Amino acid sequence: MGRRPIVGGNWKCNPAEISKLDGLVANINACDTSGCDVYVCPSPLHVGLVYNKFTNGACVAPQNCNFKGCGAYTGEMAVDQMVDMGMKWCLIGHSERRGEFGLPTPVESSELLATKCKYILEKGMKCIYAIGEPLPIREKGIDAVLAYCVEQLTPFKDILDPETVVLAYEPVWSIGTGVTATPEQAQETHAAIRKWISENVSPKCAEGIRIQYGGSANAKNAPELSACADVDGFLVGGASLKPEFDVDVSAKS
Ligand code: G3H
Repeated sequence: MGRRPIVGGNWKCNPAEISKLDGLVANINACDTSGCDVYVCPSPLHVGLVYNKFTNGACVAPQNCNFKGCGAYTGEMAVDQMVDMGMKWCLIGHSERRGEFGLPTPVESSELLATKCKYILEKGMKCIYAIGEPLPIREKGIDAVLAYCVEQLTPFKDILDPETVVLAYEPVWSIGTGVTATPEQAQETHAAIRKWISENVSPKCAEGIRIQYGGSANAKNAPELSACADVDGFLVGGASLKPEFDVDVSAKS
């Protein structure tokens, strides 16, 4: 069986007004999810307002979690609370969480993220793990890009499983910039990541694991990108806040 496409809408720290949530939810509920898994990452403040509002199988995936559960962890969201609310997915590793939003040093290492992922899986949830290189690495070429992604993947070697983990390849230079990876760049990178997984985890894992593309994806560029053999859907930021959000992608084998 081919890999079922998966599309996520990451609302990040949007919208500013609660009054806009109904429209965004309606947008998602209008999507045909028969051939595709769909998840939405609302802002932390809004998770509790929308988590039970999707009527077409779309899931809520919080944008972050801790790795300890409930307790004295101010400002954190516990996987245990997500489980209690019936959530199935959690996003981790977004470059904006790793610390690339103006903080002096990265706040979330790949090792820490692997600890989070293990906690998510132990609690019976599934994980979307975002990886991707900044521009200076992309400018050095595909070998440097792969090496960067491999560093992010290595702590996950023992937990990569097509049933429970989805990768989101999001080149940092394409996030929110309007500069989308070309289909050639996306395909070459996804294929290289898959090959690394085949050689370092197992061919079965590589064949089954889904790799989303994220970075200025929208209704216009999605068809060409989703035609790439190793692109299994999208993690969409800005465009997921617009009516154009669509999930029309087909399965890959
Ligand atoms: O999580 C989504 C990605 O950061 C992509 O965001 O579509 O606004 O570039 P973007």
